[in-house]
Amino acid sequence: MAAHSGDSTTKSPDLFKEILNKYVDEEGAVLPILKEMQEEYGYIPPDTLTPIADFLRLSPSQVYAVLSFYNEFTTEPPGQTVVHVCNGPACRIRGGLKVERAVRRALGIQPGETTSDGQFSLKTSACLGLCAHAPAIQVNHDLLGEVTLAKVQKVLQGQDIEDIRADGSH
Ligand code: FES
Repeated sequence: MAAHSGDSTTKSPDLFKEILNKYVDEEGAVLPILKEMQEEYGYIPPDTLTPIADFLRLSPSQVYAVLSFYNEFTTEPPGQTVVHVCNGPACRIRGGLKVERAVRRALGIQPGETTSDGQFSLKTSACLGLCAHAPAIQVNHDLLGEVTLAKVQKVLQGQDIEDIRADGSH
């Protein structure tokens, strides 16, 4: 069950046009366009590479070269739930690696991958700004601190983040 079809330009052509139109006459705008695409769609749909290249009067391989240079870009649609495990120093010291390992094992995927049913993606991220409550993770847009293996389990069972925070048990 994929969360996204991978053909987002046909699903939301207006959004795609809107993004491109912000950069009319800006030939060097490949990076900001890719950043906006990643933010809006959660990935860079592969079918957008040629239109982006045409728009910027570049070759698709030039656009792809930029895309593949930066880890933040992906051409794979994200899962319905994206789990970011913080790998900043405070989290690493306070068990972040164990958290990452637990998520990897439970889902059977590596950072940067999505489960075959499209339910979960795993990413690692720089400091999430929750160092005082390390180790921290971000589940879609929600931050969760003082993460334990029990909390990881609850997240992966689909429990609401608010409930997990309120529960407070380890
Ligand atoms: S290092 Fe993980 S929240 Fe800052």
